[in-house]
Amino acid sequence: MGIHRGAFLLSYPKSGGTPTSKYLITSALPYINGVKHLGNLAGSLLPADVYARFLRHEGEEVLFICATDEHGTPAELSARKAGLCVQDYCKAMYQKQSSIYAQFGLSFDHFGRTSSAQNRALTQHFYEKLTAHGYIVERTIRQVYSVADGRFLPDRYVVGTCPKCGYPAARGDQCENCTSVLDPTDLQVPRSAISGSTDLEVRATNHLFLRLDALSRAIRTWVDDHADWSRLTRSIALKWLDEGLSERCITRDLDWGVPVPREGLEHKVFYVWFDAPIGYMGATKEWSDQAPHERDWQAWWWDAPDVTYTQFMAKDNVPFHTVFFPGMVLGTREPWTMATQIKSFNWLTYYGGKFSTSQKRGIFLDDALALFPADYWRYVLLANAPESDDTRFTWESFARAVNQDLVGTFGNFVNRTLKLAEAHFGHRVPEGGAPGDVEHRLQDSCQRLAEAYREHLRHQEFRKAVQVLRALWSTGNVYLDRRAPWNLLKTQRDEAAVVLRTAINLIMYFAMAAEPIIPFAAGVVLDALQVNDRERQKWLQEIDLESYSPGREFYVPDLLFRRIDGTEITALQQRFAGL
Ligand code: MF3
Ligand code: ZN
Repeated sequence: MGIHRGAFLLSYPKSGGTPTSKYLITSALPYINGVKHLGNLAGSLLPADVYARFLRHEGEEVLFICATDEHGTPAELSARKAGLCVQDYCKAMYQKQSSIYAQFGLSFDHFGRTSSAQNRALTQHFYEKLTAHGYIVERTIRQVYSVADGRFLPDRYVVGTCPKCGYPAARGDQCENCTSVLDPTDLQVPRSAISGSTDLEVRATNHLFLRLDALSRAIRTWVDDHADWSRLTRSIALKWLDEGLSERCITRDLDWGVPVPREGLEHKVFYVWFDAPIGYMGATKEWSDQAPHERDWQAWWWDAPDVTYTQFMAKDNVPFHTVFFPGMVLGTREPWTMATQIKSFNWLTYYGGKFSTSQKRGIFLDDALALFPADYWRYVLLANAPESDDTRFTWESFARAVNQDLVGTFGNFVNRTLKLAEAHFGHRVPEGGAPGDVEHRLQDSCQRLAEAYREHLRHQEFRKAVQVLRALWSTGNVYLDRRAPWNLLKTQRDEAAVVLRTAINLIMYFAMAAEPIIPFAAGVVLDALQVNDRERQKWLQEIDLESYSPGREFYVPDLLFRRIDGTEITALQQRFAGL
């Protein structure tokens, strides 16, 4: 398949008008091979979503893109296990993952696939540009060939007995039993993982290599230009650069992947990490191709100095995004958008241990949704975002955050305020009285907290943002307890009206503030207050505790959250203890 160079990569001068800043946001692309666990949500997808939601509230132009990362050996192996051809497997898993992310409220503008035609064309385009500039070279290497299967075997497709511990089913890249890193030729009695055949030979074969060594100076200059990256991101990038970069093999002997458009290598595909990050552009082009008259993917990716681009990912992805992928982009010598900010996360652990698919330890996203509403997870994972260190997930801390913050602080405030107002004033915001000093001071402190909250979100400091949100919510309960409207009702009905009206105003702002974090509950509250679009758009710019005016109609929503008790915690601990 040829690509029409220039057909989609033409650079047009930007049309006139006021320069605006546009925000491009991507989350690391989740592998297709199975439902992801809470760690994937906490360390990339969820913070990216919160940031996108926040910026939309701030009135910025946002494009939030993600996709499934579909190529490579793990996808082939999982498909085989599931008894499906790899195309059908990927399609089914793509649908399953999309649906799970939608249920978690992830507000992608587009969720694409790296196996799309768009991504294939772009990947081949990158290959051609890199080749033209001398950054891709062909080399001969020696690799295991299976005569019975008629193909070269990737390392993981060779199994045999581990030379270190004697484990009989060690893989060619690593022994699962003793974790030794292996070369397929180290294995005793090696055989093909596909057919079981032992008729294996080591043969010479040609592969393509990316000359990262030749690109390393350009990569370092680019990294040095971004002194504002977090310590985690920068330290990983610099460690790689300091160790020195060498050529890296970018092709594989697989059927499933982007074909290499080069004579003699037609039966090989690009290494999954070559086409996966190009998937950020590929998925944007998918989005654009769905409505070509309204959407322009190039306005985000090509010669677009007005775009601020933030990438979200867990720390294991940082080398690929600070070194390998930027090297590919710089090597094209084309004006692709590159990351302005790389927000990386440490690990979320399950009681200090690794989440493990094979040992069924930890919590997978489909199970999570079956247990508790998405907002519970969103709230707890953001409150404990693994920003500066690895963070332990425990059921005790999960229940504590839900019970204290969601049930006890936000939910309780909404419920007691609206119930009391309804009981004594009906379904309309109480009229009468006028706010006094206490209310004015409350408004000031809410304004200050709202500003701090927005500041943290702008800097992608999610833990701090949630701390401030919690503090903001607390002002409501402190205010109610101090003014005790239930007492005022008997003797000073106008004062009680002021307090309840002020509290209902607080509810509106609390819910608007909470929307990026817990969009579902926030939506329920804002709908119950019949807050209109214009009000929602104003967001937290200016907190005016008289803006939600007397006489407006509201209804009392069902309880927003439910308490998690001790017996439930014990049951969850047992159920998810692992094998
Ligand atoms: N699938 C990879 C992972 O889960 C991430 C790919 S990110 C991208 O670790 F750069 F490829 F897009
Ligand atoms: Zn071993």
